Amino acid sequence: MSDDVVLQATDVVKTFSSRGKKLGTRVVSRAVNGVSLEVRRGETLGIVGESGCGKSTLARCLVQLSPVTSGTVAFEGTTLTGLSRRRLRPFRRQFQLVFQDPYASLNPRRTVGDIVAEPMRINHLGSTSAIDARVRELFSTVGLDAAAVNRYPHEFSGGQRQRIGIARSLSLNPTLVIADEPVSALDVSIQAQVLNLMADLQQEFNLTYVFIAHDLGVVRHVSDRVGVMYLGEFVEFGDVGSIYETPLHPYTEALLSVVPELNDTDAPRRERIIITGDVPDPADRPSGCPFHPRCPVATDLCRVEKPALLTIVPGRQVACHYPRNLDAVKATSTTS
Ligand SMILES: Nc1ncnc2c1ncn2[C@@H]1O[C@H](COP(=O)(O)OP(=O)(O)OP(=O)(O)O)[C@@H](O)[C@H]1O
Ligand SMILES: [Mg+2]
Repeated sequence: MSDDVVLQATDVVKTFSSRGKKLGTRVVSRAVNGVSLEVRRGETLGIVGESGCGKSTLARCLVQLSPVTSGTVAFEGTTLTGLSRRRLRPFRRQFQLVFQDPYASLNPRRTVGDIVAEPMRINHLGSTSAIDARVRELFSTVGLDAAAVNRYPHEFSGGQRQRIGIARSLSLNPTLVIADEPVSALDVSIQAQVLNLMADLQQEFNLTYVFIAHDLGVVRHVSDRVGVMYLGEFVEFGDVGSIYETPLHPYTEALLSVVPELNDTDAPRRERIIITGDVPDPADRPSGCPFHPRCPVATDLCRVEKPALLTIVPGRQVACHYPRNLDAVKATSTTS
């Protein structure tokens, strides 16, 4: 993995305004609340967090499907935020989204061949016969029978439909693929096949991935680095191995304690940390640390002062007044 940065987000904020309970009032919810991240060429950056924490909203802001409220997103050094649609167009080919629900994201009235061909047609990438040939090639790349191009989405299984979605996302030879919970809607047995396919394609086409999931178990298998998101913000970042060995944030620790495969091995059992309550409403953010109402170790300090996202050792960041495993993290850093 090189340090060559493909995508850089700086202080990205995305708010939604909706009608309040009282007549004539509006509430503003900060779905993404000041996110900075960089995605390095060839890596997979995993993003995890509970439902509603802002993962999909962030993904849409990163690929410019949704305008940011403030902050910037740069792709290979060019700032994209604020560019006109026309000036954005050449960049759009470079990053593609793969969606969670392969049922909803494919147009049921189009043949799957048409669905995969569409981005190439819109971008006038070759004659009809050249595009047809490329569609067949993409089908075999993702492990589907090229003879199936004239069939319709409903004739395929969930895993096959996700393969079609992946074929479509690859049709313009993107640099970056942002996969938003690409296997969450699939049976466990099919999940592994799709994850393996994505890993093979990453190697073959030198792709950079952002991989979004709510399950730390899935992210662990596919990511180089992981960012843990809570209420629109990153609360922890680190290399995948170190996060799983020595989580710094109590929220990360809690998420890890419920991943079954991490807890049924011979390794010392992790203490099961139960977090109670739901993710707070982004329109009604808690004071201080956003996690404090659900945190098992919160103190008065956490209720009033928001912890900054600080670098503890190179590559490990956390936003917590009382990081866990601090000594272990520092020790690994000095010995490595
Ligand atoms: N178009 C919208 N209008 C208003 N609020 C929105 C809109 N899109 C998202 N939100 C709100 O923003 C917050 C983050 O939603 P988002 O879909 O990004 O979360 P998520 O982490 O992707 O969740 P999930 O795991 O369920 O997919 C939620 O509170 C959601 O209700
Ligand atoms: Mg989502």
